[in-house]
Amino acid sequence: MKKLFGVGTGPGDKEYLTLKAVKAMENADVIFAPNNNGKNMALDTAKDFIEEKKIVLIDFPMGKVKKKDYKKAAELIKKEISDGKSGVFLTIGDPMIYSTFIYLMENIEELGVEVEVVPGITSFLAGAAKIKIPITVKGDRFLLVDDIVDEDVLAETDSICILKTTKNKEDVINLLEKNRFSYTYIKRCSLEGEKVLKNKEEILEDKDYISFILGRRKEND
Ligand SMILES: C[S@@+](CC[C@H](N)C(=O)[O-])C[C@H]1O[C@@H](n2cnc3c(N)ncnc32)[C@H](O)[C@@H]1O
Repeated sequence: MKKLFGVGTGPGDKEYLTLKAVKAMENADVIFAPNNNGKNMALDTAKDFIEEKKIVLIDFPMGKVKKKDYKKAAELIKKEISDGKSGVFLTIGDPMIYSTFIYLMENIEELGVEVEVVPGITSFLAGAAKIKIPITVKGDRFLLVDDIVDEDVLAETDSICILKTTKNKEDVINLLEKNRFSYTYIKRCSLEGEKVLKNKEEILEDKDYISFILGRRKEND
């Protein structure tokens, strides 16, 4: 039997790696991560715990990744793990939040490889801790999105996080202001170059993909 661990490496600072994540990496034969021009952020976080292990960076095509691409990646992963051994697929934050691993997982299981998921601290939880503003308090409805914010849904929301801010940041901020939300932009949370911005112009100027916006409905005056 072969086994693949989907491991969340947290927001970036290696001190946010869990003991389970470190153990899975130490016991693995081979470490996988998506190839971002020869680099990978999760790999940077985990590098001290990987030592001399074999690392396989997996190419996914630019733009929309198709079912056949995940199937191909799953076949490669299966081939690289020896019988009776395990591999680790690294993902930033948590593997169950907007990650490549989610699509890969189904294909891996279809090939008869056992899968175990090791959760990680998400970027937005690390961000809430950083700015000391809660994600939810009793009775709150929290919305997590990585794209368009629907105004009707926003009307029913008390607290929001928008990931992948480079897509439509200005529209999102205008909508938050119109609906009386206070907001904070956090980039490279827990990493070198971390920034917390509240000024609209400064937020709009920044183009870093590794960023998110946390918003909360303002209390009634
Ligand atoms: C493909 S999603 C991955 C989400 C990840 N699985 C998680 O649990 O946070 C990529 C987005 O995660 C967010 N992100 C991940 N790490 C971050 C960090 N250290 N600082 C700010 N944003 C981060 C950004 O919004 C980025 O566009």
